[in-house]
Amino acid sequence: MSCKRRDFLGISFASFSAVGGLFTLIGIKKNFDPLPSVIASGITHVDLSKCKAGVLFETEWQKKPIFILKHLPSMKTNPNRDVIVGKDVYTIVIGICTHLGCIPSYNPIKEEFLCACHGGIFNANGINIFGPPPKPLVIPPFKIEGEKLTLGVEGEQYKKLMSIKENQ
Ligand code: FES
Repeated sequence: MSCKRRDFLGISFASFSAVGGLFTLIGIKKNFDPLPSVIASGITHVDLSKCKAGVLFETEWQKKPIFILKHLPSMKTNPNRDVIVGKDVYTIVIGICTHLGCIPSYNPIKEEFLCACHGGIFNANGINIFGPPPKPLVIPPFKIEGEKLTLGVEGEQYKKLMSIKENQ
């Protein structure tokens, strides 16, 4: 066999193997990627234009209660925790007490979340201010586009808030 012919066969075989390997990798990736329906089920969309200032809006994300509180102008803003949408400020948290997992309720007069299980209190920004809860209410992964909130996707504001140590 001439040297040229051997080179040609070698290159052909290598190319064939590379293409085969590529198709195998694509097949493996397809098998391990979640189906679009599975991805979509982990996401909740909320139209924030429907939220009223001072009134708690509740929804669900991945079967967890989500509290969305549009702040009144008189409420204290916490740049480490709050979500800014245009000129509006929101508290967006998972409504599960960080002590033992009860669901707190919002008191609009005191502007606090009260957990009835053991008397834990969180302020309107979701920070634990009294009782046994060891840390603030958890901020869920979110993304803001205009006035659309998408829960389950990590947007820029979420990443910025998560870079603050107390929020992790
Ligand atoms: Fe909320 Fe204990 S579960 S204070």
